[in-house]
Amino acid sequence: MCGIVGYTGSEQAKDILIGGLKRLEYRGYDSAGVALERGDGAGLDVFRRVGKVSGLESELEHLDLASTCGIGHTRWATHGRPSVANAHPHSSCDGRISIVHNGIIENFAELREELEGRGHRFTSDTDTEVFAHLIEEAYEGGNGKPGSHDLLAAVREACTHVIGAYGIAAICADEPGVIAVARKDSPIVIGQGATGCYVASDVIALIDATRDVVVLEDGQFARLTPEGVTYTDAEGALIEPAITHIDWDIDMAEKGGHPDFMIKEILEQPRVVRDTLVGRLTGTGELDIDELGLTYEELDLIDRVYVIACGTSYHAGLIANNLIEAWARIPCEVEAASEFRYRNPIITPTTLVVAVSQSGETADTLAAIRDARIKGAKVFGITNVVGSPVARESDGVIYTKANKEIAVASTKSFIGQVVSLTLLALLLAQVKGKMNTRQVKLLFHELGDTAEQIQWIFDTQQEAIHEAALACKDAHSALFVGRGMGAAISYEGALKLKEISYLHAEAYAAGEMKHGPIALIDPGFPVIAVTTKSPVYDKTVSNLKECEARGAKIIAVATEGDEDIKQIADHVIYIPPVRDAFSPITATVPLQLLAREVALMRGCDVDQPRNLAKSVTVE
Ligand code: F6R
Repeated sequence: MCGIVGYTGSEQAKDILIGGLKRLEYRGYDSAGVALERGDGAGLDVFRRVGKVSGLESELEHLDLASTCGIGHTRWATHGRPSVANAHPHSSCDGRISIVHNGIIENFAELREELEGRGHRFTSDTDTEVFAHLIEEAYEGGNGKPGSHDLLAAVREACTHVIGAYGIAAICADEPGVIAVARKDSPIVIGQGATGCYVASDVIALIDATRDVVVLEDGQFARLTPEGVTYTDAEGALIEPAITHIDWDIDMAEKGGHPDFMIKEILEQPRVVRDTLVGRLTGTGELDIDELGLTYEELDLIDRVYVIACGTSYHAGLIANNLIEAWARIPCEVEAASEFRYRNPIITPTTLVVAVSQSGETADTLAAIRDARIKGAKVFGITNVVGSPVARESDGVIYTKANKEIAVASTKSFIGQVVSLTLLALLLAQVKGKMNTRQVKLLFHELGDTAEQIQWIFDTQQEAIHEAALACKDAHSALFVGRGMGAAISYEGALKLKEISYLHAEAYAAGEMKHGPIALIDPGFPVIAVTTKSPVYDKTVSNLKECEARGAKIIAVATEGDEDIKQIADHVIYIPPVRDAFSPITATVPLQLLAREVALMRGCDVDQPRNLAKSVTVE
């Protein structure tokens, strides 16, 4: 949520900051701003605009701004509506200090009252602004203390007053070329390139300049100058941080010739399946997930599993629930992390909590992990981001190998999650003696075959998906239905459609239709049904007949070769024959494509839907 970037060096900062903000824009796009230092103590120029970074870019385009040091921010509104006043950077009363911040300051109301009582004037509704004033006070002196006249020391002092999460970067007119940085529970990466030093909330903003970055730890601070970076701990003592080498390709962050990131990422899904499985099966047919952090003996003791996640990741959890119970015969519950953390689930040392999060930063999921560990559970993370908080705070982790996902709506990371969770379910089944190596090997290879099956959908079903999208685009609402795995797929299909096309969509287990939702159906009402061949196929078809009888327009996702379905469905999208356990990997793909087509037909921005942000670091 929100993106931070900063640069100090020999190049013009403006263009570097705008470039970085564009890369970060997927994290939030309610407003954007930059603060540029004029040099020689002359002062700071701050520019802020509501809306996307392109608006800010146009404003700055014709200005001759020679500054070589500055900070920038793209915002997803938390405290305070999107407005120029609430956009970052925020500045001190005298305008000589400016900061950008990601995170939430929980005690901001008390701090604001205290600061106002000491004469500070606030100009926004944000929690962030207190940081600017706290730093000013520590720098200039106030509240009974002399000023440090040292930007990093002032930032350090300000952090001691703040409760909450922050990644911040600050500049000061009196310290030309210096950017002071701090982090607690909000990601910060720092790197040094050929022309200067960079800070960002995500490596994607600085990857053009360097592949070797420092991922700042909680409680660490950094001071960037054009010549280099020094790192310190909370006491101000110098530290030598570890360098992380980033080996993914910048192409991953570009559209690669596609009209939007969403389609690029959907089309990458066969690769995601393959990459997530590479090296996972030994020659002797054993699954190899050594980063699990648990021995096979410990796994064998597991007698209860909770899968906790939010949104699309939660839907991946619904699929895991079916597989873990069916294959490993371990009771498994799936729960929204935001619910799990506020109740008192039964947790013992033999409970395994599986936390699923693409970003690895989701606040509710992280809080649930922490809670589960305190209660004694083993926690296992499934995430797409190496070194993310979910990875670091779990006992073990599987990386989904989706690579950077830019479109706000998750597609390829969902497929990576489902494949990873399937591996976990297979492993648990193997360890519990419910499957032998021959069975595991067979299923593993079938799982791998889904890569080609997805490709088949791309190659043959585009027209059918387009026709189905035309049938939905003018609807006011749509129902997604299915049974078993089909129900889990329906939930994801409905979420995708509503979040990017703003067409209301709801998913129901098909058998539940007659208990209420069927009242919605009138002639032409779109019902999107997952009717792939499975043990509950006939039951699902019966439910569809009930919809057909009331005039619904039925769009079926069915198994290739199923001609009967055409008798009740107005449109059929086929997937290749696949074992029911693996149907979510293939059957979700046409629903992603359908959602995108409908959204485009309705004139929506599929990469950056309104009101959303890619990583949700607030409760
Ligand atoms: C929907 C979507 C969200 C995320 C949710 C959890 O397309 O992307 O529902 O799945 O915000 O995010 P992560 O997986 O990063 O924890």
